[in-house]
Amino acid sequence: MKKLDGKVCLITGGAGSLGAAAARLFIEQGAAVVLVDRDAERLNEVARDLPQERVATIVADVASAEGAVRLCRLSRSQRFGAIDVLFSNAGNFGTVRPIADYPDDVFGEVLSVHVRGAYLAAKHAAPHMRTGGSIVITSSVAGVRGDAGVYAYITAKHAQVGTDAMPGEGACAARHPREHHPPRPDRQRLSARGGAGGSAMPWVSTAPRSSTT
Ligand SMILES: NC(=O)c1ccc[n+]([C@@H]2O[C@H](COP(=O)([O-])OP(=O)(O)OC[C@H]3O[C@@H](n4cnc5c(N)ncnc54)[C@H](O)[C@@H]3O)[C@@H](O)[C@H]2O)c1
Repeated sequence: MKKLDGKVCLITGGAGSLGAAAARLFIEQGAAVVLVDRDAERLNEVARDLPQERVATIVADVASAEGAVRLCRLSRSQRFGAIDVLFSNAGNFGTVRPIADYPDDVFGEVLSVHVRGAYLAAKHAAPHMRTGGSIVITSSVAGVRGDAGVYAYITAKHAQVGTDAMPGEGACAARHPREHHPPRPDRQRLSARGGAGGSAMPWVSTAPRSSTT
């Protein structure tokens, strides 16, 4: 018996590197996968390499409410039925700029995919999920620390960590929202100007630095 035998897993960002790797792993463990992405071409390429009887694709923008409603309805009505796992994984990085030059539109786009997208997917998938299912949201080391210049991504990933507050409500109590990130380091609040070796953002971590992804 494999870990995901008979389970249906909805993966957003399914055309990307982690989404495609997760699809292969979930299928290997017995699941059927519904891959969602806004990049239709890449989505088809990823799906082509998977066993056709275990994969379905949906082209949708997770940041739009219409997209989220449609993808969850479609997922339910496609071959595989109710959802057991929502892997909310779509993401974009934005850009790296000094805070004074950070483009507002990029900040908005990054938050809309990671934060609004994860919220909308959870909201619209929940009614189509089986009791006992799981919602997994891909956060990052960037969700527990900070790097100067990476303001949109760092903010979005920190916000995803807060999705712990999305847990079971009544009939949904058996669902398990989780964000994926490394253990939370001790945090230290910095002044708005940033401390030595710290970031100019007031709320970021001063944990040891490595590259941010
Ligand atoms: N790659 C890493 O090292 C790393 C580390 C930590 C966290 N993450 C997180 O993991 C997740 C996946 O990252 P990845 O490395 O596979 O990135 P990726 O760029 O390879 O894949 C992301 C996918 O999301 C899709 N996407 C973006 N916006 C979308 C939208 N509005 N609607 C639908 N699809 C959309 C893209 O088309 C892309 O296929 C992201 O949330 C990322 O922040 C990645």
